[in-house]
Amino acid sequence: MVTNVPQHPMIQLRRLFRFFGSTRAVNDVSFEVEAGQVFGYIGPNGAGKTTSMRILSTLDLPDFGDALVDGFSVVNDPDRVRKRLGFMPDNFGTYPNMNCVEYLDFFARSYGLVGRDRTKALRHTLSYTGLDKIAEKPIRGLSKGMRQRLCLGRAMIHDPAVLILDEPANGLDPRARIELRHMIRGLAAEGKALLVSSHILTELGEMCDAIGIIERGQLIVSGTVTEIQSKLRPHIDVVVQLIDRGEALAQWLAGKPNISQIQSSDLVVRFQFASADVQHQAELLRSIVNENFSVLEYSTESRSLEDVFLQITTGAVQ
Ligand SMILES: Nc1ncnc2c1ncn2[C@@H]1O[C@H](COP(=O)(O)OP(=O)(O)O)[C@@H](O)[C@H]1O
Ligand SMILES: [Mg+2]
Repeated sequence: MVTNVPQHPMIQLRRLFRFFGSTRAVNDVSFEVEAGQVFGYIGPNGAGKTTSMRILSTLDLPDFGDALVDGFSVVNDPDRVRKRLGFMPDNFGTYPNMNCVEYLDFFARSYGLVGRDRTKALRHTLSYTGLDKIAEKPIRGLSKGMRQRLCLGRAMIHDPAVLILDEPANGLDPRARIELRHMIRGLAAEGKALLVSSHILTELGEMCDAIGIIERGQLIVSGTVTEIQSKLRPHIDVVVQLIDRGEALAQWLAGKPNISQIQSSDLVVRFQFASADVQHQAELLRSIVNENFSVLEYSTESRSLEDVFLQITTGAVQ
């Protein structure tokens, strides 16, 4: 049971601006992430992801605007923000002579964890990230995937309510990526709010509750994956499988409004329906059944996130 659900979003960017000379790295970005949510922050290289995440992690300051973590401002209350937040940077500092447990212990100490609390935090983090089996292994011998786990471990060692992960899936093989996804979803299930960036949309699509697409310092669109899809989708693709009278259904549909691109092959009829409204979709299915067509299967195909991304961004992708 989840108790003490906070009344405010755990992460809030409020009209955030950061300029470097004439580069508008972050140019009026606002969004929110609730407790228990994974927010995918997606955009091509140079879009402004790292800059905004560094501000959120109190490593840099905005020129205008503010960012709040658990209601505390990064500008006015950076110490309170740091206690509540774990940041996983996109590059891993070199600590070649340390082993995993020493590395995590170092960060546990720097967060002020002492005695039994520190032992507990270390044990939990090593086991959560699966590093317990290689706890004594020097960092220099670790694979990319293991280094990412260690980096995540460092970000979560003080059990923060908010995690900021900058391109955590970058360079990981498919298996390591799936494992990362499980760890991220697990942290969200514990009630943490996670902001996770990537320049590759498909890396994140499946693990996010909501996404924001950023390009040239501006958030082009944000919302749940379904919201974004239906905002952008002028139509949906429908596939109907029947027991008989496939051709008759195709003919019947031909006279209906909002329907186009009808194709039928034997007992499968495909068409486009010009509304993403679920009520309209349900009415259409009802009317097909009311016409006594024997529908075996009725499915709608949503456009993939990748398609949506390509549609939104202006081609500056990768
Ligand atoms: N310290 C800096 N000095 C000057 N320009 C910077 C600095 N940090 C980032 N930038 C510029 O800001 C823009 C956004 O960069 P960044 O936030 O790193 O993008 P992303 O993480 O999305 O790839 C880029 O044009 C980058 O070159
Ligand atoms: Mg970056």
